[in-house]
Amino acid sequence: MTAPQDRRAEPPASGSSAEDHVARHHTGLAALGRAPEADAEGRWTAEALVQRFDEVRGHTELLAAPLSPEDQTVQSMPDVSPTKWHRAHVTWFFETFVLADHERGFAPFQDRYWFLFNSYYEGLGPRYSRPDRGLITRPGAHDVGVYRGNVDARFRDLVSGLDEGTLRALADTVELGFHHEQQHQELLLMDVKHVLSRNPMEPVYAGRRREPGTPDALGWLDVEGGLVEVGHRGHGFGFDNEVPLHRQWLEPYRVADRLVTNGEWLEFMADGGYDRHELWLYDGWNTVRAEGWRAPFYWTQVDGVWLEHTLHGTWPVDPAAPVSHVSHYEADAYATWAGARLPTEGEWEHAVRVDGQADDTDASRVVGNLADTEAFHPRAATPAPDGSVLRQVYGDCWEWTASSYHPYPGFAVPDGAIGEYNGKFMSGQMVLRGGCALTPPGHARATYRNFFPPAARWALSGVRLADGGAPSPTPRKATA
Ligand SMILES: [Fe+2]
Repeated sequence: MTAPQDRRAEPPASGSSAEDHVARHHTGLAALGRAPEADAEGRWTAEALVQRFDEVRGHTELLAAPLSPEDQTVQSMPDVSPTKWHRAHVTWFFETFVLADHERGFAPFQDRYWFLFNSYYEGLGPRYSRPDRGLITRPGAHDVGVYRGNVDARFRDLVSGLDEGTLRALADTVELGFHHEQQHQELLLMDVKHVLSRNPMEPVYAGRRREPGTPDALGWLDVEGGLVEVGHRGHGFGFDNEVPLHRQWLEPYRVADRLVTNGEWLEFMADGGYDRHELWLYDGWNTVRAEGWRAPFYWTQVDGVWLEHTLHGTWPVDPAAPVSHVSHYEADAYATWAGARLPTEGEWEHAVRVDGQADDTDASRVVGNLADTEAFHPRAATPAPDGSVLRQVYGDCWEWTASSYHPYPGFAVPDGAIGEYNGKFMSGQMVLRGGCALTPPGHARATYRNFFPPAARWALSGVRLADGGAPSPTPRKATA
């Protein structure tokens, strides 16, 4: 492997084009305006719905544009889906949940696509094996584009011809389709990051490296706690798992004003973080030993230097940037080592509200490093928005919480196959909050509940500390 100091001067390998090695800095996401949303009462006009549809669908294609058909076909591990599968699956979603129920004389674009591109909806019948999605060479990336174009045209025709009552009945499902496609836009990037990580040519997707910085001091936000409301207030879009709005009792607590940095993580590693069983949850320690974890997911050590695979290439780890691609187990072990803990999701959400970065109309004050910065990687903390304390609330890294993913009190599973969207996953997973550098604009909010299994590392996940409230563990730093 090339020494890190040579990386930027590295010439293209023999037999490949220079373009293979040059970062495509822009996907075009940052240049796009925002299409209209529903009005204050949640009502859509046909024109606004089509404009928003075109925008969301266009974003997916912009993200796929830097990728070759071969890039789009590979499944590098069972959790990863090929890019073209994501592009087809979100199309299948609109075809299945919108066109099939409302298009006159409906016939599927291709009969077997219903089998290939159903993800997990048992209520819709059998489907193709998830770990084998990378074996599907046909339809190819181009053919998936044809499928997308067909469904797009049929969607526009359908919506343009609807009466107001039908439009209103359909709009909620269409809006769910928008947010579903945005979820897959983020997954597409997480997945292609893993695909490219397996290629010794170290191909670049997009984005640009920032000069490494120096971690600044960690600050804290004190929160009084008490009886607080958690959950979506009902203004604008929210997934079913964000409601009902309910009360939680919070003891006084603090949350860190920024994410844990790579520099701090290096201290954890140097202090035997991955070797000391007393820092780890039982399942976490077993996983560390079984998997041989010694560092975050995308780190490799070359000639004594820790390098990190990113969507803009492989570079020395930036000590000021947030640590990323760590599991819940690692986040918890780090917090124990630091004499702190992870915030519960109720603490996280309430702190953001107290800090003025969300209000009672669900209009989250989203300022942060999301996908439209086109960095596609977490960045060192910058000052908080005016009047706020917490930095990196939205974007950069999804933040592991101490909360298991469970239904809020009074949660009801929607009727029909669409009811499988969230509820059936409320077992064995942990909640993450805040969004990440791969989250599309318009898809982050204070009440958003992401979730992954506690051992997952390929998601762009990081760590924010908390303490107070529940008794904090004794600090475990050997050098403290
Ligand atoms: Fe999906």
